[in-house]
Amino acid sequence: MGPDSEAAVSASEVSGSVFPAEPFRIKVIEPLRFPPRLERERLIQEAGYNVFRLHAEDIYLDLLTDSGTSALSDRQMAALMLGNQAYAGSRNYFELERVVKEIFGFKFVLPVHQGRAAENILFSSLVQKGHFIPSNSHFDTTRANLMHNGGQPLDFPGPESRDLQTSSPFKGNMDIPKLKQFLESNYKSVPLVMLTVTNNTGGGQPVSLENIRAVSQLARKHRIPFFFDACRYAENAYFIQQREEGYANKTIPEIARDMFSYADGCTFSAKKDGLVNIGGLICLNDHSLLEKCRELLILMEGFPTYGGMACRDLQVMAVGLKEAQEQSYLESRVSQVQRFGDAVKAQGLPIIEPVGGHAVYVDAKKMLPQIPPEQFPAQVLAVELYREAGVRGVELGTCAFGSVDKNGNTIPHSYELLRLAVPRRVYTDRQLQVVADALGRINERKDSLKGLKLIEGEGPLRHFVASFHPL
Ligand SMILES: Cc1ncc(COP(=O)(O)O)c(C=O)c1O
Repeated sequence: MGPDSEAAVSASEVSGSVFPAEPFRIKVIEPLRFPPRLERERLIQEAGYNVFRLHAEDIYLDLLTDSGTSALSDRQMAALMLGNQAYAGSRNYFELERVVKEIFGFKFVLPVHQGRAAENILFSSLVQKGHFIPSNSHFDTTRANLMHNGGQPLDFPGPESRDLQTSSPFKGNMDIPKLKQFLESNYKSVPLVMLTVTNNTGGGQPVSLENIRAVSQLARKHRIPFFFDACRYAENAYFIQQREEGYANKTIPEIARDMFSYADGCTFSAKKDGLVNIGGLICLNDHSLLEKCRELLILMEGFPTYGGMACRDLQVMAVGLKEAQEQSYLESRVSQVQRFGDAVKAQGLPIIEPVGGHAVYVDAKKMLPQIPPEQFPAQVLAVELYREAGVRGVELGTCAFGSVDKNGNTIPHSYELLRLAVPRRVYTDRQLQVVADALGRINERKDSLKGLKLIEGEGPLRHFVASFHPL
């Protein structure tokens, strides 16, 4: 498909059907292995019942993350060959800078190797001990990077997000009255306000432009910088186009520019809506903040025209950023995730509704009420799904987001979710149906499932390294 200006024609119109099928065909394949059940039992036991510790080759369908797992297009593969591997002043940087400025509209662009490097550099420049950083919901690495810099992350998700199963178009929104109240008494201790689009922790739910404007107004009133965590901005823009009044006739690039026009900058993991396997960005308007970030970039990542990446990967990102804005791509992407959600729901499992942009989230708290949060119901479900079908999802619940008080008691997270993230341009609907069917079989014997005991892993990133014993 051509660039977005030509791509107002949707894939469904192209194919002449109402089914928004993929606007591409498969040119290269990667064979998959489906280890037999006994082997899967052994492998998950050896992995300490933590799917992060499995080898990727032992997984049939990998829905651990949509981050860095996209299939590259032929144009991106061709861009690899245009790499100009220079320490300073590579033409690939200038091409990336041009595309990023066109899409995001910020004045300054620093490349980094992935989103968390952007977070660490930005927060090291802005955040100090005693600071509070409000967001709709911070992601785990964002939260950990803020804490690492002495800040206290605060989540103010909107009231509509509280009921997981109630359908509402913008469940990723920030709670504006709460933010207003907080800023009125604490604005001096707030170095930046953040908005994660889409809200990954809250189910991949979008944020409306109305909400973006309201957050921006409050931040500006108190002269606080407002930053996006913009990983999935294109999917968010697509939801605005589809759901928010007044945007149906706007293109994705127009909506994206509108979104970013209210902010002072963003951190960006290009491993999502940059359609690359590695890469990220810091975008800024403020020159003195740029100077601080640039110095740290040189210290931690590399010279500002490569920022911790091979220059060829900057070129691949420039192409991926444009492809991720194509109307037909977004239509097929978001509708595939929707169909997957419908298939899981049809098997009788409770999921977050409406289905978000990049993943289906199963509500393990509701599905497995016999397993208390301190026995990690969503982790149990993740383990069971691997056992059942060689499929990997990820726990976003008390293991990832809970904590422990000074007496060693678990402080549970509000939700116990199994996230099934859909990599971009990678799996077919038929493969996702296999996952839904496997979940259906687990659902039939859900009452027999038992909890897990955490035996290793502490701190805000414990879920990556934890190990468990079955109870
Ligand atoms: C919302 C959000 N922010 C930040 C990150 C961190 O990005 P990266 O994995 O590129 O470091 C992620 C990664 O999944 C994310 O989903």
